Amino acid sequence: MIDILLSGCNGKMGQVITRLTEGMDDLKIAAGYDKFTAVKNNYPVFSDLKDCKVKIDVMIDFSNPEALDSVLDYAVSRKVPLVLATTGLNQIQQKSVENASKQIAVFMTANMSLGINLLIDLVKKAAKLLEENFDIEIVEKHHNQKLDAPSGTALTIADEINSALENKCEYIYDRHSRRKKRGKKEIGIHAVRGGTIVGEHSVIFAGNDEIIEINHTAMSKDVFGIGALRAAKFMSGKEHGIYGMKELISDK
Ligand SMILES: NC(=O)c1ccc[n+]([C@@H]2O[C@H](COP(=O)([O-])OP(=O)(O)OC[C@H]3O[C@@H](n4cnc5c(N)ncnc54)[C@H](O)[C@@H]3O)[C@@H](O)[C@H]2O)c1
Repeated sequence: MIDILLSGCNGKMGQVITRLTEGMDDLKIAAGYDKFTAVKNNYPVFSDLKDCKVKIDVMIDFSNPEALDSVLDYAVSRKVPLVLATTGLNQIQQKSVENASKQIAVFMTANMSLGINLLIDLVKKAAKLLEENFDIEIVEKHHNQKLDAPSGTALTIADEINSALENKCEYIYDRHSRRKKRGKKEIGIHAVRGGTIVGEHSVIFAGNDEIIEINHTAMSKDVFGIGALRAAKFMSGKEHGIYGMKELISDK
């Protein structure tokens, strides 16, 4: 049995993971961490990680960038591998994660769904083939409660396309402040927020008289929870370093 510490346990994703693990015989939420403690769970919830003395094999974090320091302090001091799903980290926080990974194993991906990771693979191939004659635009849509924009996933898709094109691209976020024609090396990135949209990402390759669009739609948050739990299993007992979906998939 792998014992999990679930950070952000009382949020939307935390409650999805709590539900998914009920009845599992190889994974168990042994403790939770959340600043909001009013939800009743079948495990103890701590608002300060210093109070958590429960035996933990892996930590999963779906909380908020403001919790990052406490999450990293705990994981490093207890030598616990970390599945870090929280998005919207700034550059200093990303550096802190990199430093922590010199001591513990950290699994990071802006999107825990297998489908998005396949989309990334496909759009990298398409970008290399189409680069000369097609303009690339990324559109993402999420629910009206999402704090960061554009989504971490949209940025990851842009970064992966850019790396496939030898980092020649310039990112243009929305276009309202620019009154000029689109450049050849641009990747346009656009965010839509509304209602309860779980998560949609679309990569548009627009050429002369033809358009190729590759889309991914998450129908429920379960896809992220299932991915995070797979990552937790994969990370249990791992040596220090940064891990991602590529390592998890190639482990199959
Ligand atoms: N990587 C992925 O595949 C993926 C998928 C979905 C969501 N996310 C990310 O996961 C995060 C959480 O998403 P959500 O929809 O569950 O959000 P949410 O707001 O519903 O839940 C966040 C939880 O974290 C708690 N929290 C916030 N700040 C805290 C702090 N300083 N200390 C302790 N607890 C704190 C809140 O009380 C809340 O219960 C977001 O960053 C979101 O973008 C990532």
